[in-house]
Amino acid sequence: MLAETTSFTLDGIAARMVRVEVDVHRGLPNFQIVGLPDAAVREARERVRAAVVNCGFEFPLQRITASLAPADLRKAGPAIDLALATALLGASGELTIAPLAGWSLVGELALDGSVRPVRGALAMAEEARESGRRGVIVPAANGPEAALAEGITVLTIENFTELASLREGEVPGRVAVPAPPAGLEGLPDLADLRGQAHLRTAVEIAAAGGHGLLMIGPPGAGKSLAARRLPSVLPPLAGEEVLEVARIASACGLGNGQVSSARPFRAPHHTVSAAGLVGGGSPPRPGEITLAHRGVLFLDELCEFSRPALEALREPLEAGSVTISRAKGRQTLPSRFTLVAAANPCPCGRGEDDPRCRCSEVSARRYRAALSGALVDRIDLVVAVNQPSAEALAGPAGEGSSAVRERVVLARERMAERLGDGRTNAEAEPQEVVDFEVTAAAAGLLAKAHRSWQLSGRAHGRILRVARTVADLAGATAIGEEHMAAAIQFRRRSVE
Ligand SMILES: Nc1ncnc2c1ncn2[C@@H]1O[C@H](COP(=O)(O)OP(=O)(O)O)[C@@H](O)[C@H]1O
Ligand SMILES: [Mg+2]
Repeated sequence: MLAETTSFTLDGIAARMVRVEVDVHRGLPNFQIVGLPDAAVREARERVRAAVVNCGFEFPLQRITASLAPADLRKAGPAIDLALATALLGASGELTIAPLAGWSLVGELALDGSVRPVRGALAMAEEARESGRRGVIVPAANGPEAALAEGITVLTIENFTELASLREGEVPGRVAVPAPPAGLEGLPDLADLRGQAHLRTAVEIAAAGGHGLLMIGPPGAGKSLAARRLPSVLPPLAGEEVLEVARIASACGLGNGQVSSARPFRAPHHTVSAAGLVGGGSPPRPGEITLAHRGVLFLDELCEFSRPALEALREPLEAGSVTISRAKGRQTLPSRFTLVAAANPCPCGRGEDDPRCRCSEVSARRYRAALSGALVDRIDLVVAVNQPSAEALAGPAGEGSSAVRERVVLARERMAERLGDGRTNAEAEPQEVVDFEVTAAAAGLLAKAHRSWQLSGRAHGRILRVARTVADLAGATAIGEEHMAAAIQFRRRSVE
């Protein structure tokens, strides 16, 4: 007999529907899966067999052929176990699966029949809606996440034994309740950063305008500490953004089914490969920049990253998305993130000005080459960080994140009004930058800086964007002299 169910498989971060057809017929006992299964799907045979038997159903001792369609789509991971086991029992006549018409099933089966969570449940529920399914049955642990998809019924089950309800003609499962996204409470707070007024200002400007930030200074000065506190001063994700970020995290197996309105913060180790950073490999996987979408990508010890990895970042940084090529066609993944980087001034970290620095000029120069590359050229804010003083460290805690975030949110509202959409000043188009209102005094200041430092066109635009953000933080309509002066301070003086 023949029976069919539907399930989903992940293709990058997108879910694709899979039709699972099972044929059970007379012959020597055998169980075959065809239709581009990966290793995990081939192993489904063993999981399905054990789960079926251990849940008290009869496993057909006949010839079983399972066909996964579309045949040219690679089926990855164990998410189709549940649909496979269900179609199998439908085909053997053990269960009548007619009530499941229009339903899709996803879930990995444990040997005892428990239904384990899968990656990408949110994307799968959304895809079920897009392909006009009546509903989708997911593992209990994925329920709160999958139920965030609106316009589709999501049911959850915990164990394969629940399929026995089909004998009464009932679809198994309980209605899933959507998870309210977690807030920003509990994130590391900027109050922990003592002293470092200059760095604080830079962090606030970076958060407000979405500007890239490079911190250069000796070890132990608070660079990493400050970077890790950025998510707590950034505006929380809103509406569709929450889903967008949750979808990516879930597809990549992060977040434990927790959905959050905190912006992602990714800090890949400096040994990361170009593919690990921007995505790719075989089969292609989303990279750190996609995981950092709408959040922060922090490159600590920037000079230790490989050249190819840093080079690979350049394009997606400008485009806000990355295209990875695969055996069949290409896939474009989102990657709108704020780049934050930290570096020591030289290999020993003390900097040339420190008499204890023993770095040879050659090694220091080679080290700094990473700081003068095209990537850093695209970072709007460069801040020199010094060791905090003993007084600062012993002094009172700094201003807390929620106060800073309030200013950031107000500044972003002003940007949205001016730019007309959700973009930040860092993303303003050159034509929009030209149209920024600048007072005569501020323009004079910029012209002077331009003359004495021979700024490039890009550096010029960068200063204007940062100045616009400083003015937005101050609630000023036009960029004034003090805003321009603040922006000029954050040019790359420590590198050149
Ligand atoms: N400005 C500061 N305020 C409070 N603690 C600091 C500060 N700078 C450094 N520290 C302490 O030193 C530790 C190391 O700082 P870290 O941010 O890792 O330095 P860096 O990244 O600059 O090498 C921090 O975890 C913190 O305990
Ligand atoms: Mg550090």
